[in-house]
Amino acid sequence: MPGWADLYAWQVERDNGTPLFRQIYLQVRSAILSRTFPPGTKLPSTRALAQLLSVARASVVAAYEQLFAEGYLLGKIGAGTYISADLPEPVELPRRLSRPTAPRRPAPRPVRDFSEFGDEAAQTDVRPFNPARLLVDARTVEVWRKLSNHALREFDARHLGYSDPRGFIELRTVICEYLRAARAVRCDPEQIIVTSGTQQAIDIAIRVLLDRDDEVWVEDPGYPLTHRALAAAGATVRFIPVDAQGVVVAAGIKAAPRARAAFVTPSHQYPTGVVLSMARRIELLAWARKTGAWIIEDDYASEFRYSGRPLASLQGLDDGERVLYFGTLNKALLPGLRIGYAVLPRPLLRSFVNARCLIDRQPPSLDQMVVAEFMRQGHLASHIRRMRLRYREQRDTLAAELTRRAGHRLAVELPDQGMHLVAYLADGQSDIAIEDAARRNGVVVRPMSRLYKTVRPRSALMLGFAGFPRPLIIPAAARLAEVLEQASRPGRRRALRRARS
Ligand SMILES: Cc1ncc(COP(=O)(O)O)c(C=O)c1O
Repeated sequence: MPGWADLYAWQVERDNGTPLFRQIYLQVRSAILSRTFPPGTKLPSTRALAQLLSVARASVVAAYEQLFAEGYLLGKIGAGTYISADLPEPVELPRRLSRPTAPRRPAPRPVRDFSEFGDEAAQTDVRPFNPARLLVDARTVEVWRKLSNHALREFDARHLGYSDPRGFIELRTVICEYLRAARAVRCDPEQIIVTSGTQQAIDIAIRVLLDRDDEVWVEDPGYPLTHRALAAAGATVRFIPVDAQGVVVAAGIKAAPRARAAFVTPSHQYPTGVVLSMARRIELLAWARKTGAWIIEDDYASEFRYSGRPLASLQGLDDGERVLYFGTLNKALLPGLRIGYAVLPRPLLRSFVNARCLIDRQPPSLDQMVVAEFMRQGHLASHIRRMRLRYREQRDTLAAELTRRAGHRLAVELPDQGMHLVAYLADGQSDIAIEDAARRNGVVVRPMSRLYKTVRPRSALMLGFAGFPRPLIIPAAARLAEVLEQASRPGRRRALRRARS
């Protein structure tokens, strides 16, 4: 079986003044001393190396003989040649090649910024009520396994190479059918790019749409990963307040009338859950049309609507092609999937495809095959139907338990859609203090006040219900109610305040 040494880029030059056997000797010795090949590595046979280098075998034999004589190699020519285990320490590299000492300079801004952006521990916490979690039932797992096995069996030369950076046409076609039917999106498969999820779509949008110093609207409070991606890109972010009708378009026009883009969550504002009213939708589209701004519609978790008619997408209302529609199967199915999609206005298509290609070429072939088949056979639709019922039951259980046990301490808002609910804290309790106390009691809550940037924060807990069956929700809600009770005792509240300050 060939080893790494057979794949090494061995090279010799004819007529460069150094005999061929010596060039081979020097190259092998240098690879040994630099530990490119560690002790014990099997070298190619003299015949194989001679063939590789197109030289006479005698040259390789002469080089190997010298290396044997100097103790670099063990074994016997013709019977396996190995690098000796008993070697001098690697020689010092010449000074000019040694690692330069770093000049005294502050770290670049992105190094500092990115180090502050992550909260991956918050995403992966398995305890209730982490809003990032969701459930997948046995039926979906079973179908997924079956389709994955099938896809592996079908895997052939077509899937081994580079492919369309937009994603396989089979997948874009089923996504397109789904979006037209379920979200009233106006599209054809040509306008769709398969991404690794909303986050990648946001990243591409930022790269493609924004010039240096362009202003951008985001919702306040809003989705922190959009805020962070924009901040990391150095965009001039304008935080626009949200009220009971969604983002306040008039405030946006006042703050930044010439903004290049607006990042919004119309069907279910993150984190408040407010639906963008029809009047605001029309106002937003009119502004975009008039100024040439782009609207980025993040339609996350719109599959899980529990009451009322599902609202059509904002993109479906747009006849001026100002809306970029982003959706994700990471919420509709499972976050580990990492597949989402962007529906793009035609003038942006080429730039988006090229940007996607520069970032990571294309989506993975095997995953695309499985998802396309999963959707084509109707499993996504039935998964959504089953999960919708289940999530609604979990939502109702959580809301009822919290209201029953702690209704005097918080006002629970029952969302019509999505995977988390918001419980507003009464009598000035701090959501951040509750977060700490709850965590010590095995309950995860996200303080909503952290998501406000310029607007006066409201103290509220974001509680995910999608990821936890009822038998987990009930005791966790009881523990949370106990935490709230304890935190409201006067002595305790003073202690919490002291701990915070
Ligand atoms: C507002 C919002 N958009 C999108 C997503 C999904 O992002 P992704 O597809 O990158 O997992 C989430 C997940 O929590 C979200 O809260």
